Parts: sequence; C-alpha cells; structure tokens
Amino acid sequence: MRVLVLNGPNLGLLGRREPDVYGSQSLEDIVALLTARATELGVELDAFQSDEEGALVSRIGQSEGQYDGIIFNPAAYTHTSLALRDALQASTVPCVEVHLSNTLARESFRHESLTGAACIGQIMGFGARSYLLALQALVEVLGAKNTADGKETGQ
Ligand code: DQA
Repeated sequence: MRVLVLNGPNLGLLGRREPDVYGSQSLEDIVALLTARATELGVELDAFQSDEEGALVSRIGQSEGQYDGIIFNPAAYTHTSLALRDALQASTVPCVEVHLSNTLARESFRHESLTGAACIGQIMGFGARSYLLALQALVEVLGAKNTADGKETGQ
C-alpha cells in the first residue's frame, strides 16, 4: 500500500507558525511520526509540501496509479480552491482531508471546505494526531476495499 501525504501553503512553517494554534512540531517531525507509523502498518509513504496551488493540483493528478491513498492538508486552499477540489474529484485515488486545528471552532471563513466534499472523509482538531488518525482510517478503508474486491473476484 502506498500513501501520499500532501501539505499546502505555510505548513512548511509549522513549529514556528502560531504554535498556540498549530503546535510546536515541525512538518518534518510530523512526517517522521507518520513514516514510523506507516512502517508499522506496512505502508510506503511519500510526503510533499508546496505553497503553490498548481503544484498541489499536479501532484494529485500524478498520483493516479502511483498511490493507493492520499492524506491532504490543503491549509488555506481548503477554503478557496476550486482547482484542488476539481483535481480531487477527477482522481480515483481516495483522499482523507486533515487539519491540525478544529476549523469549525475558528473564524467563519474557515468553516467551509471546498476540498472536503471531494474526499472520503475529514479529520481535524487533533494536532499532529489528525495525520496519524487519517493514516489509520485510510489503511482500514483500503484494507476493507481490498477484501471486498478479493471476495467479488473469488480470490
Ligand atoms: C489548517 C487550517 C486552515 O484554515 C489554515 O489556513 C491552515 C492550517 C490546519 O491544519 O488547521 O493553514 O489547514
């Protein structure tokens, strides 16, 4: 099983950026935690961060046939990006949207997620643990799907 972890704008600043909201761990710390957990679960994990919308759109497009699932924190693009929503909608690779903070408990402009409707689910408000929970969910959903597909084909 191969999983792509995508992070959007300003998440490269984690650790220094509003630590009271986003915690003190850097993105590298979070990716290291996720990689360790992925190894335990037998998952291969790649991580990519970009501040640019187009770069994220391209990575989603390229993930077809390369990855079984995506964990995505679109950051501010969550609330603005039709292009990212369309990219997720066009892709057959299941995506779990994650947020460190509980965006529903913050400013009203963070309450809407354009990208969330194109994902299989959303996990937010648990800090770095949101990513670990997303990985767990993705592995369970993909595992269940593989089992169902195997049954259908009599394997
Ligand atoms: C965020 C929430 C977004 O509203 C914000 O723009 C971010 C981070 C989060 O992980 O809590 O950059 O996605």
